[in-house]
Amino acid sequence: MSAVVIHEYKDSENCRVEQVAIPQPKKGEVLIKVHASPINPSDIMFLKGKYSIKKVLPAIPGFEGSGEVVASGGGLAAWRLQNKRVVFLAPGDCGSWSEYVITRAKFCIPLPKGISFYEGCSLINPLTVVMFMEHIKQGKHEAVIQTAAASSCGKMLLRWCNAEQIPIINIVRREDQATILRYHGAQYILNSSEPGWEEALRKLCANLHATVAFDAVSGSMTGKLLECMCEDSVVYVYGELGREKVDNIVSASIIFHNKRIEGLMFQGWLRAKGKLGQWNAIKKAASLIPSVLRTDISAKYSLDNIEEAMMFYKKNMSKGKVILTPSEKRDSVDTKS
Ligand SMILES: NC(=O)c1ccc[n+]([C@@H]2O[C@H](COP(=O)([O-])OP(=O)(O)OC[C@H]3O[C@@H](n4cnc5c(N)ncnc54)[C@H](OP(=O)(O)O)[C@@H]3O)[C@@H](O)[C@H]2O)c1
Repeated sequence: MSAVVIHEYKDSENCRVEQVAIPQPKKGEVLIKVHASPINPSDIMFLKGKYSIKKVLPAIPGFEGSGEVVASGGGLAAWRLQNKRVVFLAPGDCGSWSEYVITRAKFCIPLPKGISFYEGCSLINPLTVVMFMEHIKQGKHEAVIQTAAASSCGKMLLRWCNAEQIPIINIVRREDQATILRYHGAQYILNSSEPGWEEALRKLCANLHATVAFDAVSGSMTGKLLECMCEDSVVYVYGELGREKVDNIVSASIIFHNKRIEGLMFQGWLRAKGKLGQWNAIKKAASLIPSVLRTDISAKYSLDNIEEAMMFYKKNMSKGKVILTPSEKRDSVDTKS
């Protein structure tokens, strides 16, 4: 089969397509013919060797996708998935940027009817946003802030908050991202490249009583958020797009004003839930994939065009997900823009 293979952790220019043996599933595992697999910020970090997961080299990147189960390694759960269209997580050594991938049956969910492999290519971001909503509800937060709001996760959280009538303040770094978010129904948008945005955030936090922030940028952004938020607020850092240390925290805020910073990672959150909780969370995410948790796609690339796909993704992150289509004919490219 064809697969993207890396021989060292370096950068995204390091990806090559090679011919490798089709892996064989063991008990509890399924073999999936991959139809779509997105490129995520975590993949960029993985390629550099800076992600929380490191695979034995040479390795196939890609941690999720959608496809068709073509073989089972045995066991009831795996057997029941045979010939099903699924969206899946692939956290193990097998990567999804390949024609076939092996993963555990418990990491697969049948795709809802009417959802294409492309629309249903992602489970990580939908699960992450299920985790966000759980934190919003459990914390009884009345209003929410998010950074990198034009990301795929950001648009999902925006649509879900709108559906639940929870006010959400969206922070972006460019005006064209604000335009995208208005199209998705955003009411409160702040551009962090414009002067005065922090004062505007402070006022909105007070007016809407926004006491929770989901921060994908981190670095100096985290401290700025914390300073603008009311007493008893929490900033959840879940990404490090800014590639900077968080070093501007005012001690008085966390001592006297009961403000908190916490890290959030969907894998840890899911693991802590136990089997039933995991199943419920994955089912919840899958049930909302056709609506608020849908993935907008900006471009599709066959595996052979991996380098071009990477370049397009890095320049157009806010336009939607770039997906690899390992089972499509060689050299196919389809960009909307
Ligand atoms: N902790 C978890 O469990 C978890 C799970 C899923 C995702 N994540 C994280 O969530 C974030 C979003 O993922 P995604 O797949 O939704 O992203 P995505 O759709 O690929 O979009 C990335 C977005 O981030 C923006 N961005 C990039 N660098 C930035 C910076 N330095 N400052 C501000 N904005 C920046 C991009 O805007 P431009 O167009 O301006 O570049 C784009 O809007 C990532 O950091 C990812 O690692 C974490």
